[in-house]
Amino acid sequence: MTPMSPLPRVAAVLLVVGCAADEPSTTMLVGLDPTDAPIAELDPKWRARFTAGDAVFERVYRESQGLGPLYVRTACAACHADDAKGPGFVTKMAATPDAAALLQWGDTARPYTAAGASTPIAPPDDPRVTVSRRMGPAVFGRGYLEAIDDAEILRVEREQAELVGPIRGVANRVAWHAEIASDGRFHDYAAGDTGLIGRFGLKAGVATLDDFAAAAFLGDMSITSPLRPNELPNPDGVTDDMHAGVDIVADDVNLAADYVRLLELPLRPDVDDGDDGAALFEEIGCATCHVPTLHTRADWPIAALADIDAPIYSDLLLHDMGAQLADGVTDGLAGPQQWRTAPLIGLRHLRAYLHDGRAETIEDAILAHGTTDSEAAEVTRAFLELDDDDRDALLAFVEAL
Ligand code: HEC
Ligand code: HEC
Repeated sequence: MTPMSPLPRVAAVLLVVGCAADEPSTTMLVGLDPTDAPIAELDPKWRARFTAGDAVFERVYRESQGLGPLYVRTACAACHADDAKGPGFVTKMAATPDAAALLQWGDTARPYTAAGASTPIAPPDDPRVTVSRRMGPAVFGRGYLEAIDDAEILRVEREQAELVGPIRGVANRVAWHAEIASDGRFHDYAAGDTGLIGRFGLKAGVATLDDFAAAAFLGDMSITSPLRPNELPNPDGVTDDMHAGVDIVADDVNLAADYVRLLELPLRPDVDDGDDGAALFEEIGCATCHVPTLHTRADWPIAALADIDAPIYSDLLLHDMGAQLADGVTDGLAGPQQWRTAPLIGLRHLRAYLHDGRAETIEDAILAHGTTDSEAAEVTRAFLELDDDDRDALLAFVEAL
């Protein structure tokens, strides 16, 4: 209910102001909405893109603007409210090989119809189909992920391969395609490249934010753009909607991507001051996957993100997290049990944890991703062996990231 929402925000602002007064070293990064702040020290051109992109991200699309024929939600913000996780989600389906025909319209459910369509894509009632849920992940700080140098991701992949124990991260690979190249500002791909490193999406299946935004417009809202000009196949065979032809211009896609690209990491009060929690995070091995910093490209076009140690707490690699977290879905090199190490960013602003939001607390999330068949099994055992004080210190550290 909207009348409720201003209250927590006011409380959050007071809290931040209180921290800043007690603790002079804490930079004040946030405005009224603690998660909707642009990266500090952007030049005026990027600031203008952030503001214009914010409006695209919040915009509710209507049939007359090209919504449909089938859709999941009507705005980016419906699944990334306050740039954090959820509340909207996407339902995924996976079929055993003999039942592949049941998913002839793809592995994503699209429950709502518009523009003359009348048949949604819903999970078939068949035991051979696995149905799972993906909550929209947080989008703040994702510009840092995009700026990470490929060489850094590959370095960590090599280092993990040499470790004793189960941890073996793998970079996802994305084939070059023309749609990605239309974002000529950020990438120096040559036609024929097939080895782009995927870093966005829960299985790291997408290489750039512009490509992700174009896919989200099409997949979640059936809004076509020059980057994704054709409506997705659907049971009614509808090939266009109430807005004839391509629905939005490429710049709308780039603006939505720029907004995400320029969102600051939520404020972190002194997470790296050598306190017990930070040390334990390293010692018991959380940091093997949730790598505290990776270095960004020196030639990155956003000066504030270029040539820095980006504190993203992820290796951007895929890990086998065991059968209980599996969804049966493959995405590029990512198999049914594999997930990208979740970047630990702004956790206190999330509504629930893990890809489907099944964990209500950080401790639940750790236990759920540390089953005996998960690459995190040994680390989770070490977590369970901590005494109460150490466990509290570790959880307090993670919660503040
Ligand atoms: C119906 C809910 C929904 C809507 C609407 C939606 N998203 Fe998402 N978003 C998701 C889900 C679920 C994922 C994870 C996708 C996956 O891995 O399959 C995601 C992932 C992302 C990511 C990658 C984040 C990461 O950590 O890698 C970005 C960026 C993003 N969305 C941006 C957008 C933009 C921009 C729009 C509007 C054009 C949008 N989303 C609309 C649900 C949604
Ligand atoms: C083998 C690599 C690996 C190790 C070790 C590991 N994690 Fe994770 N972590 C992941 C992956 C992959 C995910 C995403 C799983 C999913 O969404 O289903 C994740 C998710 C999380 C989440 C949920 C974040 C969110 O946005 O929902 C938290 C919290 C977390 N890890 C904390 C920890 C802590 C604390 C430790 C150490 C006790 C740890 N992890 C050890 C790989 C790892």
